[in-house]
Amino acid sequence: MMFSIFKKKPRLFELMPSGFIDIHSHVLPGLDDGCKNMTQSIELIQEMQKLGFSELIATPHTMTGVWENSSEGIKESWNSLNDTQELTMPLNYASEYLIDNNFLDRMQKGDLLCLKDQRVLVELSYFQAPINLFEILFELQLKGYIPVLAHPERYNYYFSDFKIFEKLKKAGCLFQLNLMSVVGHYGPETMKMSDRLLEANLIDYVGSDIHHKGHLEAFQRKVQVKNVKALKKAIAANTFFSKKV
Ligand SMILES: [Fe+2]
Repeated sequence: MMFSIFKKKPRLFELMPSGFIDIHSHVLPGLDDGCKNMTQSIELIQEMQKLGFSELIATPHTMTGVWENSSEGIKESWNSLNDTQELTMPLNYASEYLIDNNFLDRMQKGDLLCLKDQRVLVELSYFQAPINLFEILFELQLKGYIPVLAHPERYNYYFSDFKIFEKLKKAGCLFQLNLMSVVGHYGPETMKMSDRLLEANLIDYVGSDIHHKGHLEAFQRKVQVKNVKALKKAIAANTFFSKKV
């Protein structure tokens, strides 16, 4: 006799359906802490394709004083990579914007690269949230953008205040869970927070947030979260971003 709690957990890569589009990755060469050059980019993308990824949106960091990328620079880098013969994976580009002062300037100018249909990938500092975060989210939407918050499960300072996640959702923010969080790649606390967010039905989309080949190992690992059903639902919702839809 087998009880359902003993049901074998899937490996992470097994959860990716055919046609899966990843909306968060650092595969463009030389723009951030992801791939350093064209060779690394091509190798990584080919490996991702073997794992079951079908389509990618490259989202290099844009972060004042650290990764000062411009829309033009990102597009150029994407162009050169996308032109290479070795790549057969459909590749698009946007950015993962840290919410800082320069981000607000770009927002005012309407100069944000979107994942699709005004959805813009944003991240917060791992040390503290901006004091006026809710004001910024409001402004962003007044400008016509829809914020997609990258890896909400990784902001430790929110862990003691779960209600903040509901508040952020009510404030119009969509949530993108990192796939590697559900296998414990960032530690047990982040895995547990992923499960809580899934349980509360707060996760809209998923992303790999892959920076280098070392991250691929996590996709062979078994899923640790209990809410695999909610996880599958979020994975399926990524289809929205496909160029083929
Ligand atoms: Fe990222």
